[in-house]
Amino acid sequence: MTGMKKRLAVAAFATGMVAMAGMVMASGMMKGGAEGGPIAERKMAMKEAKKNFKPLVGMVKGEMAFDAAAVKAHAKALMAALEKAKANFPEGSDKGETRAKPEIWLMKDEFNALFDKAITLAGKIEGADTKEKLAKAVMALGNDGCKACHKEYRLPKKM
Ligand code: HEC
Repeated sequence: MTGMKKRLAVAAFATGMVAMAGMVMASGMMKGGAEGGPIAERKMAMKEAKKNFKPLVGMVKGEMAFDAAAVKAHAKALMAALEKAKANFPEGSDKGETRAKPEIWLMKDEFNALFDKAITLAGKIEGADTKEKLAKAVMALGNDGCKACHKEYRLPKKM
């Protein structure tokens, strides 16, 4: 390649990259908004998990009355939310407004196994018919499910 041709090729390449970056950004913005996309979907599912976990902790702490029917409903919602979150870590969704660590995609089997464990632990909450059993089940899910995974696979909050 002559110097001139080379420069032209580089310039064309650079222009292409800029255009591509623009497209990626545009699609990224769509994903973050009403269009959904896996990052938004899993964050929503995680928020749903938190929403259903909180009242259970409240019952354990005695901030709320123990209610077996509510326990069952929250446990079911937790399982569904975790299933939904698990399904939204496809290959390539490590870029964008996300705190998901790249390790997730390097150790997808371990990551998914941790999700399955959390879902099983959430299922155990469903059968907790006393406050004591609920306390045990909630602790197990909180420590061996939510916290264990966040510690391993979630980046700290950006300052
Ligand atoms: C197997 C892994 C795993 C388990 C189990 C798990 N999480 Fe998460 N959670 C993540 C990852 C990864 C993120 C970061 C997602 C992102 O930013 O894309 C996250 C993010 C969150 C967020 C922040 C969502 C947002 O809006 O940015 C909340 C809240 C949350 N999790 C709650 C929970 C609760 C409550 C539990 C347990 C009932 C739980 N998680 C179990 C992996 C897990």
